[in-house]
Amino acid sequence: MTPDTPTPVLSLSNYSIRFATPDGEVQAVSDLSFDVHAGETLAIVGESGSGKSQTFNGVFGLLAKNGRTEGMAKLEGTDLLTLRARDLDRVRGRDMAMVFQDPMTALNPVLKIKRQLAETLEVHKGLKRRAAEAEALAMLKRVGIPDAERRIEQYPHELSGGMRQRVVIAMALLCRPKVIVADEPTTALDVTIQAQILDLFAELTGDKTALVLITHDLGVVAGVADRIAVMYAGRIVEEGRVEDVFAAPAHPYTAALLGSIPRVDRDAGAVEPIPGRPPNLIRPPSGCAFHPRCGFAVDRCKAERPPLERVAREGAGPRRAACWRAFVDAAKGTAAQGDLAHV
Ligand SMILES: Nc1ncnc2c1ncn2[C@@H]1O[C@H](COP(=O)(O)OP(=O)(O)OP(=O)(O)O)[C@@H](O)[C@H]1O
Ligand code: SF4
Ligand SMILES: [Mg+2]
Repeated sequence: MTPDTPTPVLSLSNYSIRFATPDGEVQAVSDLSFDVHAGETLAIVGESGSGKSQTFNGVFGLLAKNGRTEGMAKLEGTDLLTLRARDLDRVRGRDMAMVFQDPMTALNPVLKIKRQLAETLEVHKGLKRRAAEAEALAMLKRVGIPDAERRIEQYPHELSGGMRQRVVIAMALLCRPKVIVADEPTTALDVTIQAQILDLFAELTGDKTALVLITHDLGVVAGVADRIAVMYAGRIVEEGRVEDVFAAPAHPYTAALLGSIPRVDRDAGAVEPIPGRPPNLIRPPSGCAFHPRCGFAVDRCKAERPPLERVAREGAGPRRAACWRAFVDAAKGTAAQGDLAHV
């Protein structure tokens, strides 16, 4: 390792998730390998069911009972998948925090907001009750909760969905964890609050926190992320610096996602459905899982799965893609974008 390649905060390698069901095994996440570094924001995008949330449920030890993980998920060198429940509990909340897609899953319905937030600081940072409650209130104000002094005395059900989401974000930020995974954190929020929350995230990542942002909103990706990983059928199909990938996607699925919005630099950009159906993860298609929906499929695509490998593309950073066509075009030294624009 050279000084130019710092140790990642979070590092997944050959990471997979399988769910046992009466119909067979769901291959929800397959063979992921990626790193997230301090101060960096990695966006994870992909259609519904592509494995975005389960990837991190597995990392946090929160999979449903019928799920199991394989491979490694290291937080600063410690494999989280081998930790005992008690040790993982200690790491969760203190070193890594998750903002869940559904805020109610993270909130205790019978505890006041004040207690839930303060408890996090008492348990993980050893703060006394008074100090913890004061910090909790300050954080509620920072995430834009109006009338925070009154709200902090309420129960989760007394708050609107958007406000609950902000409470969950406040809870994740409280201990200044090394990694925050935010699963669609701004979807339920209005545009002004969204901007405030994204600014807060940006401030934290500047402060060396690593942020993983799961989102359908490509406008948010363009605005705040450094790198993007595109998931399809439980696998990463493309990964690279945001500006590089947006300027010239190497994978037809990425191109289709980006092509499905009129302009990515406008805040209205949301991932639109792509023609065809997402695959069945109990019996995924042979070869490249995208082949039934890909206008570029050739015989090899149905027969052999393309590995996720470095591809030569102009841009500021390294790029990986899992596509036979991306490899062919890179090997020829030609840009595939003329073709891919028609996907
Ligand atoms: N307990 C479970 N048993 C069986 N399959 C499951 C279970 N939990 C999740 N899955 C499957 O795992 C796959 C990945 O789900 P995941 O929640 O990660 O999708 P996602 O990319 O987060 O989608 P969305 O954008 O809708 O949130 C889906 O096909 C889902 O049906
Ligand atoms: S490997 Fe083939 S089917 Fe898959 S995305 Fe590339 S061209 Fe399309
Ligand atoms: Mg999800």
